[in-house]
Amino acid sequence: MSETEPETVGVLGATGYVGRAAVAALRERGYEVTPAAGSDHEEFPAVDVRERGTVRAFVDDVDALVNAAGLVGIDACEANPAAALEINGLGAATVAWACTRADVPLVHLSSVATVGVPDPDDGPITAATERRPGTAYGRTKLLGERAVRTVTDGRVPSITYSATNVYGRREPGAPAGNSVLDFFLERAAADETLTVHRPGTQELDLVHVRDVAAAIAPAVEVLSSDQCEPEARSYVLGRGRSYSVLEVAGLVAAGYRRRTGSPLGIELRAPPSTDEPTVERFDVDPEPLRSELGVDPERTVSEWIGTELERRLGGTRTGTATAKEGNEKRRSQDSNLGQPR
Ligand SMILES: NC(=O)c1ccc[n+]([C@@H]2O[C@H](COP(=O)([O-])OP(=O)(O)OC[C@H]3O[C@@H](n4cnc5c(N)ncnc54)[C@H](OP(=O)(O)O)[C@@H]3O)[C@@H](O)[C@H]2O)c1
Repeated sequence: MSETEPETVGVLGATGYVGRAAVAALRERGYEVTPAAGSDHEEFPAVDVRERGTVRAFVDDVDALVNAAGLVGIDACEANPAAALEINGLGAATVAWACTRADVPLVHLSSVATVGVPDPDDGPITAATERRPGTAYGRTKLLGERAVRTVTDGRVPSITYSATNVYGRREPGAPAGNSVLDFFLERAAADETLTVHRPGTQELDLVHVRDVAAAIAPAVEVLSSDQCEPEARSYVLGRGRSYSVLEVAGLVAAGYRRRTGSPLGIELRAPPSTDEPTVERFDVDPEPLRSELGVDPERTVSEWIGTELERRLGGTRTGTATAKEGNEKRRSQDSNLGQPR
């Protein structure tokens, strides 16, 4: 840390997939971190973003804030649109308002679900890409992004990261992600056919959870420098390499074959909903991240597939039964795999 960096970073949503990884990465960089959950947990205090007074008291005690709180995922937000609005939209506004009031710089986590189906003629996706979210998740996250910009711009520095599809686990034993890649790896570990929703050509960008977490400290550092203007900045946080879902399945099946010597089937299935338009292109431009923040998501999907299949299949294949049980749970959640989270 340099002298201009803050002493204490508050992290909202610290019990979550991204929040936990962010807390660990910030601590590794030498920050003192004050984590908060959204509900009662033994390890952290609860700071509900819907409660203005609680948020305000929390923000008053930190030097910079990371908002990784959210109601995350298409199904969760469809099932509870009022909570999605209150947490992702109005809650983000409340957090930004508290930061502005206390003069605390803010790193806000959002999602490329705000983009919806991009127009391929518009070129690679950046923060400036037109937003046309097609889901309650995307709409409420967009409301949050816009609220952060409106409330902070000109008053306190903020950075919003719209992350692409996050995959991987941060630590051994930590929960895996919910991306299509994590799903395929679970199935491969259980010797199960990889099921792909038709047409399978739908594209996505995949970014490792450690790379998302690693992007947060540089943002805090930039925002906390004495020279930083009180402006609102936005970035798409992705790897910059798009894959079709079929391609991801093919990479996992090829990795499985290398490790076991046996083929793994890939089966195309009818999608759960035919209303959703297919995302035919999803190219993300990571250049602004590199040039403006020095952030460079480096982990590759193929490396991760190799590492995870090695870990899960090993030499003896003893993990298979456990993986099968895990898959039973996961199968019921797979209706929107391949969609941004
Ligand atoms: N996961 C992805 O693939 C992905 C991709 C792109 C962007 N993102 C973005 O990254 C951020 C974090 O996502 P995630 O995957 O880590 O989500 P997650 O695992 O579902 O965690 C959500 C976190 O938010 C907290 N929370 C829920 N309701 C809250 C409330 N009312 N007030 C305060 N905190 C509340 C939860 O606390 P409790 O444990 O107490 O409920 C939990 O700590 C979100 O902004 C999401 O849009 C995620």
